[in-house]
Amino acid sequence: MTSSASTHRPGAVTVITISDSAHLGTRRVDESGDVLEARLREAGFEVAPRLVVPDERLVIAAALRRLCTNPNVAAVFTTGGTGIGPRDVTPEATLDVVEQVLPGMAEAMRSASLQHTPHAMLSRQVAGIRNHTLIVNLPGSPKAVKECLEVVLPVLPHTLQLLSGRAVHQDVP
Ligand code: MTE
Repeated sequence: MTSSASTHRPGAVTVITISDSAHLGTRRVDESGDVLEARLREAGFEVAPRLVVPDERLVIAAALRRLCTNPNVAAVFTTGGTGIGPRDVTPEATLDVVEQVLPGMAEAMRSASLQHTPHAMLSRQVAGIRNHTLIVNLPGSPKAVKECLEVVLPVLPHTLQLLSGRAVHQDVP
């Protein structure tokens, strides 16, 4: 048995845009954050107000910790900072805070992304769980956000139900 986000909402989903330029305001439009929020809403999720933080490991980790103490936040999606630039520290910050790593989610996104572009192998995105809250890294471009989100959306309702302790473990087709 599967259920959709619209029939059961274990909590809100929060988006964090991780970008020095978006944080400084030199990038006027946060297109990736907009795309991410819009698709999550379209899929039936309640989306909490977005955060925009710089590419600073401690700042990112602090934001993740704070969100994961909020009982109304079921999942956090980050966009940006997963690559190989000197300021790309989103995976490190995420691994600093998660209690369990979910390698399969990141592997699935990277694998599907390789169908779109070989550059997908340059994303070091990770996923994991802290305090019953799912954290998923997505790359920074709007295109990558769309492509990666489509991979995890189908498993999101079941994942969030399991984390909120309200799902039974069942095989699904
Ligand atoms: N994944 C998907 N699905 N589609 C993409 O276009 N771009 C890649 C990769 N992952 C891409 C993708 C590129 S070009 C880079 S550099 C890395 O994500 C890291 O992006 P980030 O540093 O903005 O997080």
